[in-house]
Amino acid sequence: MSQADFGLIGLAVMGQNLVLNVESRGFTVSVYNRTTATTDEFVAKHPGKNLIGTQSLEEFVGSLKRPRKIQIMVKAGGPVDAVIEQLIPLLDQDDIIIDGGNSLYTDTERRDAWLAGQGLRFIGAGVSGGEEGARKGPSIMPGGPASTWEVMKPIFESIAAKVDGEPCVIHIGPGGAGHYVKMIHNGIEYGDMQLICEAYNIFKHAGFTTEEMAAIFNEWNEGDLQSYLIQITGKALEQKDPEPGQPIVELIVDKAGQKGTGQWTLLNAAENAVVISTINAAVEARILSSQKAQRVAASQELHGPTVAISTAKAELVKKVHDALYASKIVSYAQGLDLIKTMGEKKSWGLDLGRIASIWRGGCIIRARFLNRITDAYRSNPALVNLMLDPFFKKVLSDTQQNWREVVALASLNGIPVPAFSASLGYYDSYRAERLPANLLQAQRDFFGAHTYERLDKPAGEFFHTDWPEVIE
Ligand code: 6PG
Repeated sequence: MSQADFGLIGLAVMGQNLVLNVESRGFTVSVYNRTTATTDEFVAKHPGKNLIGTQSLEEFVGSLKRPRKIQIMVKAGGPVDAVIEQLIPLLDQDDIIIDGGNSLYTDTERRDAWLAGQGLRFIGAGVSGGEEGARKGPSIMPGGPASTWEVMKPIFESIAAKVDGEPCVIHIGPGGAGHYVKMIHNGIEYGDMQLICEAYNIFKHAGFTTEEMAAIFNEWNEGDLQSYLIQITGKALEQKDPEPGQPIVELIVDKAGQKGTGQWTLLNAAENAVVISTINAAVEARILSSQKAQRVAASQELHGPTVAISTAKAELVKKVHDALYASKIVSYAQGLDLIKTMGEKKSWGLDLGRIASIWRGGCIIRARFLNRITDAYRSNPALVNLMLDPFFKKVLSDTQQNWREVVALASLNGIPVPAFSASLGYYDSYRAERLPANLLQAQRDFFGAHTYERLDKPAGEFFHTDWPEVIE
């Protein structure tokens, strides 16, 4: 008998937690997993819940009320296509498939067209919040047609995180818009994480103990920088390894992993000629970190200054706080600029204020600061760059002396701060009335007759100079 309101395929931890979340809101949920023992174990572990364990896709599809609502939580890429292919012959007109993984938005667009051609409906939905978010309330970024969103809205809104009573889910836009926005969320996540790591690295070089650093992040979590990532940083630094009794963070190998969403963000930014230098620095910092053997060898060959930081601790904490805050604003300005550019290019009709508002809860980048971003776009939906919003403009002005001092201090001491300095470089370039690109244009015209415009002539008129011959 068809009795389930919702079905989920893929019972890894995220899938399991999402199922429990949906069920806890009063829905009956059918589940299917390729390894059927996992399904049996999962259902047996939760007696009394409205769960239906199924042993085959046929049984799974048959257990769902129509139009069927099926969420796939499998590894992005080939596995998503494989599941869809198996489902198509079993489904009926207007049934809905939701891909809740970190899929590449262009794959989502392809699947959207593919399934529409089969009379089926498809939603590519970014889901953020990790295991805990999936269970208690994630931030959900669904794309696809608005009419399909309307069908899914009651379930999505009931399972999403809530901030001030508002669910952290909106219909982002058509086609691949949902997965696209999730990809940029992840790029911003990379930026936030790297900036925090740079702050930690400065403190470490300045001789702070792990306990002192934990206390700083815990304190920052009470102020402007309040965010989930600052909070978990404080907690991570507090954690001791039970065996040697040392801080666990200091026992972890300094090689960062990454699954690809940050790199996709860089590629997309390059394709659209949008500068996301902070996110770029964050992705590249992970890449360099992973080349540990080369770095260990180079540490014996390439010399730098001896670290000597004499700034008083309390003063340094304040300066690094400001550098982190300012850099974070720049990173979000860049990520949102990319979303805006792509949204316009694809005519997705994106609402940056509402997107920022659903990142206030549930997701990895959730932070108090996102209220300010929401306000900025609510008061000026046409805001050209987040840095130009009156609130953020003032923060950047108030923090910049400390920000500059931190970048200078790190540089003089040979401490890498690629994301802090990329952010500052962006700020200074963006606010420069005149950049040295005049000379660059001269060089291009010199070797390639690429022509240039002149300050003393109307825009759009191009000139070429007969440059002297170079004798080498
Ligand atoms: C989230 C996270 C999640 C995933 C990261 C990890 O929003 O819940 O972004 O999707 O844990 O993508 O990514 P890396 O392995 O690339 O750090």
